[in-house]
Amino acid sequence: MRFLRVRTLPDRCHRCGFCTSVNICYSAGVGYCTGCLSCYWACPYEAKVIEEVEEERKLIRIEVDGVEVQVPEGITVLRALELLGYRVTVFPERGEKVVNAPCRTGSCWACAVVINGELERSCITPVREGMKVSTDVKGKEPLRVVHGPQPHPVGGKGTPWWEKRKGRYIEVAIWVGGCNLRCPQCQNYFVTYDNTSTPMTPKEAARLVTYYRRKYGVNGLAISGGEPTINRKWLVEYFRELRRLNPDKKARLHLDSNGTVLTPDYIDELVEAGCNNIGVEPKALYVDTYMRITGIADRELAEKYLQTAWNAVKYIIDHYRDRVYLGVGFVYNSALISREEIVKMGEKLASWDPEVQVCVLDYFPAFRRRDLVRPPPSEMLEIKKLLNDVGLKYVIVQTSIGHFGP
Ligand code: FES
Repeated sequence: MRFLRVRTLPDRCHRCGFCTSVNICYSAGVGYCTGCLSCYWACPYEAKVIEEVEEERKLIRIEVDGVEVQVPEGITVLRALELLGYRVTVFPERGEKVVNAPCRTGSCWACAVVINGELERSCITPVREGMKVSTDVKGKEPLRVVHGPQPHPVGGKGTPWWEKRKGRYIEVAIWVGGCNLRCPQCQNYFVTYDNTSTPMTPKEAARLVTYYRRKYGVNGLAISGGEPTINRKWLVEYFRELRRLNPDKKARLHLDSNGTVLTPDYIDELVEAGCNNIGVEPKALYVDTYMRITGIADRELAEKYLQTAWNAVKYIIDHYRDRVYLGVGFVYNSALISREEIVKMGEKLASWDPEVQVCVLDYFPAFRRRDLVRPPPSEMLEIKKLLNDVGLKYVIVQTSIGHFGP
């Protein structure tokens, strides 16, 4: 049978320890690389390669949804489910025998199943003899890796522009682990690829954020990542609890998202749960640019993500202009996206609503793109002018010396 395994290229490895400290490896003790690929995705220096090997492996007995089955040893629970005919998806789907696994790095917990009575991540947990697996997670509180809360003086793309100028803390934010994108210049990769921190339930996170709101006297309560939306159950329960704890009108429950899975029914559910401030970041107009920025190699998937994000923007404008403060995120670095494309994005958005807020992030060197040169503030101000010139009234640009807005 053929198996995947990951090998380290010694001449590329910087011995930074990221793959063993931030990203845990469960292969030790199993006797095989389980082929989960989490270290492959997380390595900042691309020092890992995937190999496909033909091997004979012992079969072990496990129980899945009440049925005893045999699977090869040394693989992940997710792979075992796939071999047993379960449909493993990256873009969320609902249905029988479907497991959604969007990050594959053990960080988002969306792929969690019940293993020997406990919720555990199927994408990185290896199968073991006698293991009992249930894909029915009803009755289990969802989990997620959470960083923060921390107070923030600027906020994200959805933070209203007039608040950004206050010169004091305006939000408390948490950042959740796991992302469905593979941006080579990931600006927050220590959170995105963290699968070692103890996860929290939505209630625990909401309580903590509420405590910090009081401590810092702010009204903005933000969640960013990673990508918050890829664990839907966790996120909806989080907003419900956060709204219950913060019922006042001043509370701004802010979701900062890439928009890739924000379908209309999901947006409806989040608004119903209490979310009243959403930032959506389509990042690009053309799929080739989007693939370059996000590192998504599957063109069909990239198209779906890009279209879903733009549709999310339009849907919020059309249906929730009065209930949700929307901020749209663009990104800029001339190595990744042209000015012409940014202008076309601006024109598209202005044709829908010229008053919608746009925040342009200046991508700086990070993660696998340490070669990038951060655009100077003057260049970002030129981008701002281009977007203002197409009719957008509220454009903010992030620069190395602060944010410039209306
Ligand atoms: S897909 Fe398994 S933790 Fe995200």
